[in-house]
Amino acid sequence: MRTNILGPVTLLSGCRLVPWRDGGLEASSAASPPSARIRQSIRRYTSAPVPASVLERILVAATSAASAHNRQPWRFVVVEEQRLKDQISDAMADRLRKDRTADGDAAQAVEADVLRSRSRIREAPVLIFVFATMEDMDQYPDAGRRQAEQTMAVQSTAMATQNLLNSAHEEQLGACVMCAPLFCADLVGSALGVPERWAAQALVTVGWPTVRGPIRARLPIDKVVWRLGSAVSTTPLSP
Ligand SMILES: Cc1cc2nc3c(=O)[nH]c(=O)nc-3n(C[C@H](O)[C@H](O)[C@H](O)COP(=O)(O)O)c2cc1C
Repeated sequence: MRTNILGPVTLLSGCRLVPWRDGGLEASSAASPPSARIRQSIRRYTSAPVPASVLERILVAATSAASAHNRQPWRFVVVEEQRLKDQISDAMADRLRKDRTADGDAAQAVEADVLRSRSRIREAPVLIFVFATMEDMDQYPDAGRRQAEQTMAVQSTAMATQNLLNSAHEEQLGACVMCAPLFCADLVGSALGVPERWAAQALVTVGWPTVRGPIRARLPIDKVVWRLGSAVSTTPLSP
């Protein structure tokens, strides 16, 4: 019987989950990398253009990601023209206002959110819209496997997006993922004129950084990594 993450595992008898460091790994052997080397989300950029060659390098890095069956279900649309950035950010802002207003949120809070989202998008030198497509993925007659295949397409696309972020960091660019397109996928798809089967996943803003902002904290490794073993834990377990 499976009770919870801290309870007994019946499939492998006598085993239990213990915190990663409970096995004797010394904290000093898992030191954090120096902060200068850490990728972070950067949301403010100078107005300097990003050369096409640099953009292409980060896009090639994105496409070197692992993907399910190597089907590479990711698609990217790059937008740099100011007029187009204005149009798409306006349309997305209108949708955000409509949705939040329908939620019953206070008008002032809605407008602040709309303003922030719109300016973040229109002021970024480069917008990279990220899509996932099922066109080359496997087809299944049942809903369970269809869902698994779709998840794999989304996972693969997320891996490509992370590669893009890492590569932007290596190029000393700033970049940030925005989830906004997920919430207005129909609007983004039709505004950009992509095939209907491309499902909008995210938007990555890219540019040369101004403000870096603080490095965001991470959960301690013992909160997120567990070891399955038969050793008896000496560390009190907390959920
Ligand atoms: C799927 C996803 C969606 C995100 N959406 C947004 C967003 O809409 N706006 C934003 O400012 N940051 C967004 N982020 C960035 C996260 O806020 C950021 O990664 C997190 O706070 C950790 O900070 P770091 O990237 O600097 O380490 C998103 C990140 C992910 C992975």
